[in-house]
Amino acid sequence: MATTPAPAQDRSTVGTLLRLWPYVRPVRARLSSAAFVAILASCVGLVIPLVLKWMVDGPIAHRDPAGVWLGALYLLLLGFTEALLFGLRRLLVARPLSHVEASMRADLYRHLQRLPVAFHDRWASGQLLSRATTDLMLLRQFLAFPLTFLLVNGVTIVVGVVIMLLQDWTLGLVVLGPAVPLMVTCMVFEKRYAKVARRAQDQVGDLTTVVEESVLGIRIIKGFGRHRSQARAFRDLSKTLRGTELRKARLLATIWGVIVTLPEVAIGAALVVGVVQVADGALSAGTLVAFLSTALALRWPVESIGFLLAMSQEAATATERYFEVMDEEEEDATTAPGTGTGSDSATGTGHAGDRGLRFHDVRFRYPDAPADTPPVLQHIDLHIRPGESMALVGATGSGKTTLTALIPRLYELTSGRITLDGVDITELSRHALRAKVAVAFEEPTLFSAAVGDNVLMGAEDTAGTADLERALAVAQADFVHALPQGTDTQVGEQGLSLSGGQRQRLALARAVVGQPEFLVLDDPLSALDVHTEAAVEAALRQVLADTTALIVAHRPSTVLLADRVALLSGGRIAAVGTHHELLRTNAEYAHLMSGEEEGAR
Ligand SMILES: Nc1ncnc2c1ncn2[C@@H]1O[C@H](COP(=O)(O)OP(=O)(O)OP(=O)(O)O)[C@@H](O)[C@H]1O
Ligand SMILES: [Mg+2]
Repeated sequence: MATTPAPAQDRSTVGTLLRLWPYVRPVRARLSSAAFVAILASCVGLVIPLVLKWMVDGPIAHRDPAGVWLGALYLLLLGFTEALLFGLRRLLVARPLSHVEASMRADLYRHLQRLPVAFHDRWASGQLLSRATTDLMLLRQFLAFPLTFLLVNGVTIVVGVVIMLLQDWTLGLVVLGPAVPLMVTCMVFEKRYAKVARRAQDQVGDLTTVVEESVLGIRIIKGFGRHRSQARAFRDLSKTLRGTELRKARLLATIWGVIVTLPEVAIGAALVVGVVQVADGALSAGTLVAFLSTALALRWPVESIGFLLAMSQEAATATERYFEVMDEEEEDATTAPGTGTGSDSATGTGHAGDRGLRFHDVRFRYPDAPADTPPVLQHIDLHIRPGESMALVGATGSGKTTLTALIPRLYELTSGRITLDGVDITELSRHALRAKVAVAFEEPTLFSAAVGDNVLMGAEDTAGTADLERALAVAQADFVHALPQGTDTQVGEQGLSLSGGQRQRLALARAVVGQPEFLVLDDPLSALDVHTEAAVEAALRQVLADTTALIVAHRPSTVLLADRVALLSGGRIAAVGTHHELLRTNAEYAHLMSGEEEGAR
């Protein structure tokens, strides 16, 4: 459902790139010494024309072979020093920059873990993936190369121009002629390139999303024979991306053409003017040689500016995309915005009536839902007493999953309060809250890890083998012991695939392993056969005896696990009572429980 969020378009390239400073700061010494070494290397290169001048006007003019050999030796030494210095620069930057990339990636990952679920509902995963990979790679390349060389080449150009003006200022002015049109072209180019670069990088994100979804959904695609349409979607997106990349290439080609042609023309003109001057005797041949070789030495620094600017532009776009995610607000550690409307009950440990899990006039609307739709939940008042198990029943789509997600604060309430033993959940730290409340969701997700580790995720680090065994027993997940390596068997994406019911039982084990005070189970037995279900229920009954629990249920057998039942209908709690009471008094409940075609999915 999520797509590309609209980019913010109000920052200059430099302004955007400056945001990288906190990451670059730790390596600033290395980076600036590398830049210094590179400037030194470039300037050494600029001495070469001066040696040439000395050779032409001295030893060559006086036909002195020994002097020519000496000059050649100087040139060799200078060339060697230049190469050595450039090598040193590379050595200096490689390690610190991989460090910058790694720490930016680590920060992004950490941040993604802390962003609210609502953020992940909104953003396509491919967009996040491409930011964590392609964009960060672009940034490392930028710091390694264009950043240094924009500076180095800038200094080289200035020094070279000064040398040329000192040799002969009229020739110098001839060469400088195209500087102004060149700068204007670069500026126009930069603006246009920024737009296309942003589009290309967003399209990479969209493409990543399609690839990711088709890998995750490969069974559906194959099962429904949708590979053609999926391939078409991929082809269309990559065609669009190719178009954008070609547009980038065309822009780059244009600027490259201008940047290469103008200086060549200027050098040609200087050559003509210079030769005339030498013929008139107004200029020494050595000076002309020095002048022209300086001008030729400056060709590369000038020509490179086009693609250095392009790379900087891509880096600015990458920075922008990176910080779009980083600027999203993390889940607040404690208090949430938009809560605290009802403040009748005191905070801290409340009186007896407040113990247990309690919803106080809760109203909830998904943050990305259109404003004119009614909230999914409203006026929810529900009290689950300590040690009590409450079943939550309602038609499909009535908001049961939504209601359970509010307890571990996966979403923030629109208004109202939820209290655990009288303490508002927004006043508990996330850590404390999630240690108190354990959940098993409708879709049991397993990670690429050992079976045992997947289950133990539900507990503090102190949980051991005994806890694991107990949890597996409650969930009737004995099949684990028959796996090739028992609880050490790798499951999930890289490992063994388990059946839906097996996964569901592991998710249930994960929920109970930490012996939580509050247990929230979203339809935990839906994928089990009648016999396994009965066995799990029998074991679960013991756990529920001393846990406060909310269990979403579709079948009468699961409902019977609970002490009382709440019926969710039209976004409200329509009725609360025992199963038998509700069967007698509530027509909707009786209807939901009677026909399997209504009650079960
Ligand atoms: N992330 C979301 N963003 C916006 N709307 C959502 C989101 N998740 C669910 N909804 C909407 O909220 C409503 C309630 O969904 P919910 O998943 O809570 O139903 P449910 O009672 O658990 O249904 P089921 O019995 O099928 O599991 C639905 O209309 C659904 O479209
Ligand atoms: Mg649900």
